[in-house]
Amino acid sequence: MSNKFNYDAIFSKKSSDNPINIVSHAKYDFAVAYPAPETLPMDGLIQSLATAMDTNSEKVSNEMAYYPHILGSVELREFTSQKLRDERGFIVDKDQIVLTNGSGEAIGLVIQALTNPGDIVLAEEFVYMGTLNQFRKFGAEVVGIKIDDKGIIPDLLDKQISDMITSGRKPKYLYTIPEHQNPTGSSLPKSRREEILNIAHKYDLPILEDDCYVDLRYESVPEPAFRALDDSGIVIYVASFSKLLAPGLRLGYFTGPDELIRRSLDFRVGSGPNQFAAIAIDGYLRNNQESHKNNFNPLLKEKYQYMNKSLVENFSDFGAEWSNPEGGCYIWLKMPEGCDISSIRDKVFSDGVGYIAGTNFEADASGRIGHNYARLCFAFESPEKNRDGIKLLADLFKKYRVAN
Ligand SMILES: Cc1ncc(COP(=O)(O)O)c(C=O)c1O
Repeated sequence: MSNKFNYDAIFSKKSSDNPINIVSHAKYDFAVAYPAPETLPMDGLIQSLATAMDTNSEKVSNEMAYYPHILGSVELREFTSQKLRDERGFIVDKDQIVLTNGSGEAIGLVIQALTNPGDIVLAEEFVYMGTLNQFRKFGAEVVGIKIDDKGIIPDLLDKQISDMITSGRKPKYLYTIPEHQNPTGSSLPKSRREEILNIAHKYDLPILEDDCYVDLRYESVPEPAFRALDDSGIVIYVASFSKLLAPGLRLGYFTGPDELIRRSLDFRVGSGPNQFAAIAIDGYLRNNQESHKNNFNPLLKEKYQYMNKSLVENFSDFGAEWSNPEGGCYIWLKMPEGCDISSIRDKVFSDGVGYIAGTNFEADASGRIGHNYARLCFAFESPEKNRDGIKLLADLFKKYRVAN
């Protein structure tokens, strides 16, 4: 048969024909969302796989011969449980941890367990696009909450929820990235976390806490997780190995109340995530997490400093402002009101500098508040490229007349 079969009458209503997104890199790539390839501890990960094979070959072979446990590798869950206890200050049993195919899968499973089409969810007014996409895919209406340079402003959150309830639009839950927020880089102080928890209880509003960037801290110490401040089950906690190690490993996790775990897992297609990656991560981090962070985070700091210094030198005269994160991957650049750096993004990319325009992060997708913002990833390029790329970005903003 040579005629192509026509699926037009077959495709589901929910399916959409989006282009397959092939990532292309600008010469100075500040658009990505991950650390530099050279910081990936490839040798260490391979070595830990080899050690597991040498010391425990029968066990590893058996694990590889079957589909993984639905919750994922027992050993990596044990390690994660200790990590959460020692570093994030809360105790969960390994059987209350679900390993996932990146934390994106964790977020998707939880969203599906909690969301009916038409439900209203709250998130920071600028927030990670991947989660926004999943909210939209599963029919949630996302309402943005006002933020400042420290993140969610509790008083405004309280008022916003109360106004919404008055108008018959009670939100169902809150998604937040409290540490080194994506895209703004802010970290929420402990006192605000406590206030937000009080508000959450007042309105029976669960908090989906996304701690994706917590390991990438080069200044000071992390604030306690929401989950560490509240043991009632109102907090669902998600985190990832993508930023600490590498996104290609595709391993993240979540924890929450038992029924939430069971209902989320009901949406999982297939078994737990890749066992090979889990063995490598477990072996590597058990022995090397501290030394890895001690190598990685000072380099991250240097990259941040080069980008920040170049912003000071090249953007101060534009009337621009930008965030000063203590970790994570991003600086959030704010150009003066009325300055549209969203529409020139493709031209600037072709001329050598990649960034993600602020409009992409608008929680409510209004297209009204993000035009003069950009997310700049400082974690990927070298310190010198951060310096030179920001200088070129300033020149391009002048060339396209969004700055003078
Ligand atoms: C805030 C946040 N959460 C979750 C993810 C998903 O990461 P992964 O699925 O690689 O764990 C990302 C990726 O950029 C992110 O920025």
